[in-house]
Amino acid sequence: MEYAPQKLTREELEQEACFIHKISTEINSTLDLDEICAIVLRTMNEHFRFRHSLILLLDEDGKTLSVVASRGYKDAERGAKVPLGAGVIGLVAQKRRILRVGNLGRRRAYAATVRSQVERSGRAGELAEAPRLPGLPDVEAQIAIPLLIRDTLVGVFSVECADAPAFSERDESRAGIVGNLAASAIHNALLYRRLAAANAGLQKELTAVRASRGGAVGLDDIVGESRAMKQAKALIRKIATSPSSTVLITGENGTGKDLAAKAIHYLSSRASAPFMNITCSALPEALLESELFGHEKGAFTGAAGQKKGLFELAAGGSVFLDEIGEMSLVLQAKLLRFLEEKAFRRVGGTKDLRVDVRVIAATNRDLKAMVKEGSFREDLYYRLRVLPVELPPLRERREDLPLLARLFLEQYRTEFRKNVASISPEALAQLGRHPWPGNVRELKNAIERAVLLAEGPVLGADDFPALSAPADGDGGLRLPADGLRFEKLERDLVAAALERSGFNKSRAARLLGMDRDWLRHRAAKYGLDRPSPPGRPRD
Ligand SMILES: Nc1ncnc2c1ncn2[C@@H]1O[C@H](COP(=O)(O)OP(=O)(O)O)[C@@H](O)[C@H]1O
Ligand SMILES: [Mg+2]
Repeated sequence: MEYAPQKLTREELEQEACFIHKISTEINSTLDLDEICAIVLRTMNEHFRFRHSLILLLDEDGKTLSVVASRGYKDAERGAKVPLGAGVIGLVAQKRRILRVGNLGRRRAYAATVRSQVERSGRAGELAEAPRLPGLPDVEAQIAIPLLIRDTLVGVFSVECADAPAFSERDESRAGIVGNLAASAIHNALLYRRLAAANAGLQKELTAVRASRGGAVGLDDIVGESRAMKQAKALIRKIATSPSSTVLITGENGTGKDLAAKAIHYLSSRASAPFMNITCSALPEALLESELFGHEKGAFTGAAGQKKGLFELAAGGSVFLDEIGEMSLVLQAKLLRFLEEKAFRRVGGTKDLRVDVRVIAATNRDLKAMVKEGSFREDLYYRLRVLPVELPPLRERREDLPLLARLFLEQYRTEFRKNVASISPEALAQLGRHPWPGNVRELKNAIERAVLLAEGPVLGADDFPALSAPADGDGGLRLPADGLRFEKLERDLVAAALERSGFNKSRAARLLGMDRDWLRHRAAKYGLDRPSPPGRPRD
């Protein structure tokens, strides 16, 4: 906006500068829309005796403006609407240009004369009803300023007066400056408000997701009716009722340690506070320490600001330390202190901080053996083991296999939208014979693969090719992923047995655990008779 050059005294210039400094500092001290508007209107009144002022913002439809703040009017004008193009304010919004009008009383008199003449001629119905605009009934002069961010209209700022016929040029320039300041402050406040609303929405969604599927785990999510699992579940339920004791969950990989830890958290009175987890083996010592305990600004290179650790972030909730057996002895000492005194220091910090969280630790290692060999602190071991939960390997609770298999079948058939309804008895028998070194996780993966590749509605033994031979390396063969030609295998085995027995068919048969007739028949079928002595052609 440009203003006509004005002659101001030095004193006036100083006043102006002082005012601009004051209002810009005040306006910039907040991101709250209502506060910003109140500051603008108050300062305009205090400094320039602009007693009647309004701030309107463009509505979302871009067709109307709504009053968001006013000063000096009798009625609360908040919410009153002005269409774009209507009256001085509407015109300013439409043209995006400042308007200064005066002597409105005279024009009102003129308009009244026109109206009474039209009425006298009996054509009053043709006079459109003028929209009721916010403002003084007896206004004499008005300045309205578009609030612009570049070319984008944010709203309109308007001042009115009833006791003088016109505003001065200087008034216009002052109002213009304030308008510019207000525009950017209001723009930022609106952005901030929108971001805050979006953020609140996301937070809500996150909580909802956590509460529904993503996070919360109940006892029903831990499937298993074996004695061992029933015991483990009963223990989990009991542990949950004592919300501060430390828990140690042990079990081979894939036995459900993560699941148990979550169940303990969500069944406890800490359920609505955060559940935070970290895998101790995933980070080097220094990083793990700062993840757990946080760090102060400048604690190490790259620590640009202060950061809260997991324990602080989980305040009131639970922290799950997975693979605790991989934690260094130094950190073990710090963890022990935290467990004993509930106190810790951020990395680089000098102050003791306190926070209330339950620690749930898990490991697939034999901590007791580690204590013996000196790689795990004995005191920490006993401190962690206040409430131990041991999850049995799947091979020791095979009766849970069909239940688990059905659970995962249901999950994956929904996820992959496959029409797979059941698992054949042969396939279940085969699952039952497998040793499951990877426990429930391995079973889950096997079912996922089978469902994904299944061609019919029933999963058969063929759908679990990786399980068809013993996998524990006790002399058994593994079926290659792409299958094999059984006849060739049989031929090779018969040939090897004959070779080793010096072509004695009875001994060769014994080597293979078959009878002599079986071997004789195969030897003939594959042409594996004693080779002809050298020099004599074979017939
Ligand atoms: N008893 C169970 N019932 C249902 N799902 C289970 C059970 N045990 C394990 N799972 C599932 O198997 C997978 C591996 O379990 P997880 O808790 O990560 O094992 P761990 O932490 O002991 O390696 C996860 O997807 C988990 O949901
Ligand atoms: Mg795990």
